[in-house]
Amino acid sequence: MHALSIHETTVALLAPGKGILAADESLPTLGRRFEAHGIPSTSESRRSYRELLFATPGLSDWISGVILFDETIHQQNSSGVPFAVALARSGLIPGIKVDKGIVPLSNFEGESITQGLDGLRERLMSYHSMGARFAKWRAVTPIGPALPTEQAMWSNAHSLAQYAALCQEAGLVPIVEPEVLMDGAHSLARCGEVTQKMLGSLFTSLNSHRVRLEHLLLKVNMVISGTDYPGVGDLAEVAHATRECLLRAVPAAVPGILFLSGGQSAESATLRLAAICEVPNLPWTISFSFGRALQESVMTTWKGKAENVRAAQSELLHRAAANGRALHSRIPTTSRPLLDAASPDPAPVPVNSGETNPRPTAVPPSQLGGILLQAGNFGSIHSRAEAHRFQSELLRIHPPEEIERMHQYVRSKLPSGTRWGGTATRELEGEFRRASDQLNDERYRQSGFGDVVKGLLLWVETAEERADENRISRSPDA
Ligand code: 13P
Repeated sequence: MHALSIHETTVALLAPGKGILAADESLPTLGRRFEAHGIPSTSESRRSYRELLFATPGLSDWISGVILFDETIHQQNSSGVPFAVALARSGLIPGIKVDKGIVPLSNFEGESITQGLDGLRERLMSYHSMGARFAKWRAVTPIGPALPTEQAMWSNAHSLAQYAALCQEAGLVPIVEPEVLMDGAHSLARCGEVTQKMLGSLFTSLNSHRVRLEHLLLKVNMVISGTDYPGVGDLAEVAHATRECLLRAVPAAVPGILFLSGGQSAESATLRLAAICEVPNLPWTISFSFGRALQESVMTTWKGKAENVRAAQSELLHRAAANGRALHSRIPTTSRPLLDAASPDPAPVPVNSGETNPRPTAVPPSQLGGILLQAGNFGSIHSRAEAHRFQSELLRIHPPEEIERMHQYVRSKLPSGTRWGGTATRELEGEFRRASDQLNDERYRQSGFGDVVKGLLLWVETAEERADENRISRSPDA
């Protein structure tokens, strides 16, 4: 009976185009996030906030399940309905964080162990009776010059495996989360190496604890460079490194891999998720289980005020939809000119320049002008093909109307007469940066476009530039 229930839950959580909302911040974590937005953290303010999230109209179009914190599963919505029941009525599967947080691992400075195994069997039974159908346990692996140690990885892997076995016994789908942190100056390759190693320990432990791999979900970090690493890997690099790491370490019996956002900006998390989703022939369903990347703009908008609830809910829906669309790797099929409509030449332009995963284009790129991401990364935008790839990424995630609005908004903020040109873009970088800093505080930050707008660069083709396939803002020393 349990196995069937677990199976149905697993399938439902991995519904196509849907991800999981992680709303399971512990009291100290949510307190810190509230404080950053000037919101007092009380039992009632936390309850109101969670109600705002869960009652968002249309959320179940993009979200399959919600991870709750212990306090929340014991709370009720303002109509007196327990949250787990209210979620289920809205078509959202309730889940529960069951670990009790991390504590320092004795004798291993800088490393931690996740606690919460004591009494877990009884707690799981209780959560199940309250309506929870899946659970989460997070272990944390930092990267440093001498970290992580084998011992810390194995200790956490064993705890994750014991937790997973207990969940399956209780009829709950375990989400196992061995997060490798993005703090630090490590490279993308190092992140891949550590993540692969941690996953190796985890699956060895899961197998030795006889956990059924087909009835668990892996929640994992994307393979990205550390926050202090100079330079950011582009989307293709992240997707490629993540693919390599997961294919080497995760058995195909695992039905689904959920990515966490881990402190990336909302926009980066979505773009990278979309890039990973496009990797062909992965044996697992790919999805997301984001906390911060879904909630940051919600809190910014809400500010703890009842009058902002609707606007905050639309922020959540917006982010959930963007990520849901990323799962579909959606490509709008319109051929309407979206940007720079005056551009006279609709001739198709080759998009792929030796990328490992060619992407289909549904929109003639030369009609769009160029939307280039990451102004700080000018040096990496070295070809027309790459510029078009960035365009495709955006178009895949945002409906054309939104991109058009972004475009108009950026334009309205720039000094009149600003002329954008492929070879002139570098000269305009300073100006662009000033405009984007200003934009960062304004409405597009709140609507989740902050990072895109920050890096948005419009490129208006000239006939001469169109003739030169490889001449988009090439770095001077390229
Ligand atoms: P983030 O997406 O903010 O990393 O949160 C996901 C999560 O549930 C961490 O355990």
